[in-house]
Amino acid sequence: MVDRPTSNTSTVRSLSLIAVVVVALVAAFAFTAGWLSPARLTPAKIVNALAPPGGAALGFRRNHAKGVCFTGNFESNGAAVALSKAPVFAPGSYPVTGRFNLATADPKAPDATVRVRGLSLRIVAANGSEWRTAMIDAPFFPVATPQAFYGLLQASANTNDPDAMKNFAAAHPELGNFGAWAGSAPWTASYAQERYNSLNSFIFTNAAGQNQAVRWSFVPAAQPEAIPADQLKAHGADFLAADITQRVHTAPQRWTLVVTVANPGDPTADPSKAWPEDRRKVEAGTLVVSAIEPEDDGPCRDLNFDPTVLPPGMHVSDDPFPAARSAAYAVSFNRRTAEDKDYPRHPAGGATQ
Ligand code: HEM
Repeated sequence: MVDRPTSNTSTVRSLSLIAVVVVALVAAFAFTAGWLSPARLTPAKIVNALAPPGGAALGFRRNHAKGVCFTGNFESNGAAVALSKAPVFAPGSYPVTGRFNLATADPKAPDATVRVRGLSLRIVAANGSEWRTAMIDAPFFPVATPQAFYGLLQASANTNDPDAMKNFAAAHPELGNFGAWAGSAPWTASYAQERYNSLNSFIFTNAAGQNQAVRWSFVPAAQPEAIPADQLKAHGADFLAADITQRVHTAPQRWTLVVTVANPGDPTADPSKAWPEDRRKVEAGTLVVSAIEPEDDGPCRDLNFDPTVLPPGMHVSDDPFPAARSAAYAVSFNRRTAEDKDYPRHPAGGATQ
């Protein structure tokens, strides 16, 4: 004979099971949110740390808040097919939505005050697969890890300790290279004259299944012209958007996609370390920027240029940045889209730039 539980025992068991599941879910949520480990770096903490002293600009990207949207095409020449089976590398022309931008959390920062300029792209292949990338003009990142980037943001905002930056720099000697670049690299008066670099390393996989660590850059067709930084101030607060609008209106602007292939042993997990100049390079095609789009309420507004959105044939590497960036960009995206009422619109809300 089978000893059957009474209906009361069975109800108690069911309720206990539900309680266990609920507690487990709450614990998982608390863990993910970082409540159980206050010292752990969370995407929300890193995004909070990006905010300027007066607080974040509501509705805007929490970094690279100032920019100008565009559309165009990526004309692939087929040369990168040997490295990656990504559909965007098959010969052809693929639509691009992109954004020139400045590495600042302040959408009103005068252009001449922001050292780092960026280029973000979404390239869509015929089968709908997407390659999103957000690059900057610096040749390497200031620090080696996402944790150190958070430390840098904290140190630079620390007004209580006059030695905060000095101590941070002493503990992170790689910052010196970035400081040297920032202090000596020429400024230009145009987004069109900048070279934009992925800095992060990714893995390309070709149709034969061979993997290869790579980085990439978009190299301008326009010749860079150095302008003394103090002269740039005389160009006005928003000269970069005005310049690129004028140039694209006159003629499409072009960049060559150069894929750099790592040698065995090259540092893939650390974007503060550039690879030696002699590494193999493959020119994969041309970015053609053919129209400037409204920044305030145009096609970039609801786009998150998450660097982990990759087509088949591209993967993240052991570089910890893309995952950290992806998580932080999602927090920024969620905040700014929830603040839609604070974001300027055309034409009713009035444009900011
Ligand atoms: C842990 C390191 C980093 C953090 C926490 C971070 C954070 C952010 C955030 C919050 C945004 C705004 C995203 C949005 O609202 O859509 C952003 C945008 C951007 N970041 Fe980063 N970033 C990091 C590293 C990098 C690196 C290594 C690069 C370049 C190699 C880069 C280039 C850009 C660019 C170009 C944009 C503008 C994207 C756009 O136009 O929407 N960031 N970053």
